[in-house]
Amino acid sequence: MKILLTGSTGQVGNALLQPLTELGQIIAPTRRELDLSQLDSIREAIARHQPDLIINPAAYTSVDQAESDIDLAHRINALAPQVIAQEAKNRNIGLIHFSTDYVFDGNKADHQGNWTPYLETDSAKPLNEYGKSKLAGDLAIQASGCQHLIFRTSWVYSSLGKNFLSSMLRLANDKDELRIVNDQWGAPTSAGWLANVTCAIIQQLQNANDKATWWTQHGGLYHMTAAGKTNWQEFATEIMRQSAPLNLLTKSAPVIHGIPSADYPTPACRPHNSSLDNSKFSREFKLPIPIWQDLLQTVLLEKAHVS
Ligand SMILES: NC(=O)c1ccc[n+]([C@@H]2O[C@H](COP(=O)([O-])OP(=O)(O)OC[C@H]3O[C@@H](n4cnc5c(N)ncnc54)[C@H](OP(=O)(O)O)[C@@H]3O)[C@@H](O)[C@H]2O)c1
Repeated sequence: MKILLTGSTGQVGNALLQPLTELGQIIAPTRRELDLSQLDSIREAIARHQPDLIINPAAYTSVDQAESDIDLAHRINALAPQVIAQEAKNRNIGLIHFSTDYVFDGNKADHQGNWTPYLETDSAKPLNEYGKSKLAGDLAIQASGCQHLIFRTSWVYSSLGKNFLSSMLRLANDKDELRIVNDQWGAPTSAGWLANVTCAIIQQLQNANDKATWWTQHGGLYHMTAAGKTNWQEFATEIMRQSAPLNLLTKSAPVIHGIPSADYPTPACRPHNSSLDNSKFSREFKLPIPIWQDLLQTVLLEKAHVS
């Protein structure tokens, strides 16, 4: 199986590189080799490489910057997936795409006013330009009629690159006190786990006798996050709690104060409730979904091992 992978310098794309090599021949152009904002070069690359499967974790992910860079975010997050999906449809090949909790407005609650997790069937109503561009990408893929899997995930981090985990570890070594938002709830999900379950699903596809039937039965939109939920302050506190015994902190952990989002204004509005219901994913693929604290431990152990 020949797999075209975008975004291999990003968190999820990079985590996919190694496990994917077990499954086939990987072509992973960098942005310099395939700029997704150039729609014709996407068509040209697919024609040149003739993949059997395309995996698209590449995205414009700067949520705040997207507020003022609307056209580019839309081009990369909506138009590029649309072109990829049209090519996948024309060539009768599969597409695996990643999307986000930020397609929702974060207000879903039960009668008592408690936040409840979003289902795949809930209406999306993004609060920010990033979410709007990602939702447009999801809808374009669905409308194309190509064989697809769209995995909506949340709060992605990894042991490499810039993310909430690396920011917290850097700040922990600089500051004695931190003020972190405590009224946005979601599930921190590691790029490594996302990569591993994506590969396990590709393996299920490869094991199927009839691939077209597999896509008919299993294709579609899924929520795919770690189990459990937390807020950013609790996530930061758990990072400190687990990092200290691994010697990832150079001094005692800072005191972490919770603050409301209103006290930390950002260009883009973020949903209060980012919790996604994973039961469709777990029913369909029968893969275990670890609790977010366990995924954090795996990533921190990896970080401690390499540092
Ligand atoms: N990060 C999160 O918290 C989060 C949460 C929910 C969902 N998601 C979704 O999960 C997926 C993976 O996210 P991630 O955290 O792995 O993203 P990431 O680390 O920000 O990586 C984004 C990747 O996209 C590439 N890219 C950006 N613009 C490009 C362009 N014009 N042409 C080609 N490549 C381009 C980047 O290349 P460069 O290295 O050259 O910039 C990078 O490889 C995305 O679909 C994202 O929307 C992420």
